[in-house]
Amino acid sequence: MAKHIGLFIVALSLLFAATEAMQYDVGDSFGWTTPPNQTFYSDWARPKTFLAGDSLVFKWTGDHTVADVTMEDYNNCTSSSPFTGSPNGTEFMVTLDRPGRRYFICTVDNHCERGQKFSINVEWPFSAQPPSHDNSAPTLSYGVLPAFLSAIAVYYFFTRF
Ligand SMILES: *[C@@H]1O[C@H](CO)[C@@H](O)[C@H](O)[C@H]1NC(C)=O
Ligand SMILES: *[C@@H]1O[C@H](CO)[C@@H](O)[C@H](O)[C@H]1NC(C)=O
Ligand SMILES: *[C@@H]1O[C@H](CO)[C@@H](O)[C@H](O)[C@H]1NC(C)=O
Repeated sequence: MAKHIGLFIVALSLLFAATEAMQYDVGDSFGWTTPPNQTFYSDWARPKTFLAGDSLVFKWTGDHTVADVTMEDYNNCTSSSPFTGSPNGTEFMVTLDRPGRRYFICTVDNHCERGQKFSINVEWPFSAQPPSHDNSAPTLSYGVLPAFLSAIAVYYFFTRF
């Protein structure tokens, strides 16, 4: 019995290991600042798959902020949401704690209009679905049930052979 529980834990650990949290430096070595063009941060984010549990690290010098805003504020380059980063900081980390679409802008001067903004879709870590580009947040049942069933399948595989 103890052996079976051990194998079950191994099976679950394998699933978790496959979805280890990632940490992304926003803009890579360019950091978080007014970009050379309006698509710079969207271009940076587009090829990446962000999973709940991953984090974004914003690094900057000078006068910038990090605001985690709504879609409307994102589109208008306005912010009615509270700041998540303070002006004249040097580094700020945002943990993507839930699946769904997230919007980040800099609220200083016209930086947002100049392209210091991007939006990402955060996916549930166990989801086997391809990246989706709609605004709806995946639900919990989406990934947890397949992950649980896979764990049971792996468990039976190991206990049978
Ligand atoms: C935006 O700037 C980056 C970095 O200089 C460059 O690689 C990219 O091609 C530019 N994109 C456009 C649309 O000009
Ligand atoms: C941030 O630093 C810049 C440049 O030193 C300064 O002009 C600005 O007033 C500072 N902003 C805040 C909120 O401290
Ligand atoms: C965004 O812009 C639209 C159109 O100009 C306006 O109706 C709306 O009130 C603005 N929303 C915010 C939050 O500023």
